Amino acid sequence: MSSRILIEDATLVTMDENDGVIDSGNLLIEDNIIKSIFTAAEDTPGDVKVIPGEGKVVIPGLINLHNHAAMTLFRSYADDYPLMEWLTKKIFPAEARLTEADVYWGTSLALLEMIRGGTTTFVDMYYFMEQTARACQEGGIRAMLSQVFIGTEGCSEGFNTFEDAIKFIENWQGQDEGRIQTILGPHALYTCPPDFLKKVLKETEHLNTIIHIHLSESKFEVEESIKNFNKTPVALMDELGMFERQVIAGHCVHLNDEDIDILSKKGVGISHNPCSNLKLGNGIAPLQKLIDHGACVGLGTDGAASNNNLDMFEEIKLCSLLQKGTLEDPTAVPAKTAFELATRGGARALGMEGHLGVIREGAKADLAILDFKKPHLQPHNDPIANLVYSASASDVETVIVDGKILYNKGEFLTLDEERIYHEADKCAKKLRQ
Ligand code: NI
Repeated sequence: MSSRILIEDATLVTMDENDGVIDSGNLLIEDNIIKSIFTAAEDTPGDVKVIPGEGKVVIPGLINLHNHAAMTLFRSYADDYPLMEWLTKKIFPAEARLTEADVYWGTSLALLEMIRGGTTTFVDMYYFMEQTARACQEGGIRAMLSQVFIGTEGCSEGFNTFEDAIKFIENWQGQDEGRIQTILGPHALYTCPPDFLKKVLKETEHLNTIIHIHLSESKFEVEESIKNFNKTPVALMDELGMFERQVIAGHCVHLNDEDIDILSKKGVGISHNPCSNLKLGNGIAPLQKLIDHGACVGLGTDGAASNNNLDMFEEIKLCSLLQKGTLEDPTAVPAKTAFELATRGGARALGMEGHLGVIREGAKADLAILDFKKPHLQPHNDPIANLVYSASASDVETVIVDGKILYNKGEFLTLDEERIYHEADKCAKKLRQ
């Protein structure tokens, strides 16, 4: 028998082609799909769970395009270091001590935070990815998972190889009724030399999967690439043919005009991660310029070690304000555009446009419901501007993924909150030593 949920009399921020907002709308979910959206009273089937929507705003579930979920264990563990020192002196040595259990509990903690904040899909890259997949399976979230690997000696290698990453894809692709998708995650150009990336590209074609990589994150990375290959990281990726495949590139901060042209023309999915870029002192990506060139951009948090939370509402607000401030132009990245990045933009980067990041009939029932009966979200002038400039993750009241309620009014329905806090804290304590 089908399961049905009816959200009644709510404001629906659809983010469809018309960027429409429907006041006093009703939304019927059947199984894992948005079955119908209607405003006039309609006969609804008897066996339906009704969620009263008065004073509530329903949005498409947010899409976090770049994360290292298990790094919640390193939240507030190493702050205020330069990027390379942060990586080589603090993060890599701690990661070398990671166990499978650490990744499982660290990811579980990230799932609590993401679900609680309205994120329904995330893209991840980390070690022991099968533990991340296990946690996602239990939590019921939608995930695109890549087991990270590198092609050079040094760094925090040792426990996951390219071969492990392929095995992970073979074992987990399409699991959990398709909610778990697997992708290939070569770490970055500075840890994966060109010859190695050619091998990766071949495998990508063979597995028919997409690539998730860090790209042009720091000035140092770009300078090294120019010194070693006489090309920017983006131009090098292009020359290697990597952009003939679907790529999700994390960061893309330091870009010249030619890079922006390549990324836009090749439809590379860019994860713009403003909090992490600021915190690690990497600068501010030319977001408005990328948008002007028609680039495919979404938003991500990056790991909690460099953010230090997984609150997509912060990224949405910040991505808009940073462009306005740096360009000295208050019209830069307007509210609708910023919100679109976290919804439809993310879906586009994943090749899931029309299915995710949108409220329309036939789309996946991945939704978040926010309670707008709060001082900072009143009055009801413009719900999208309220979502972008005034709302935060804590305003999310209900989260639905694939037609299932995962979180409702302070209660997690799939995850054991207390146990996760306890176990994650134990793991973090051990890793600190
Ligand atoms: Ni990252």
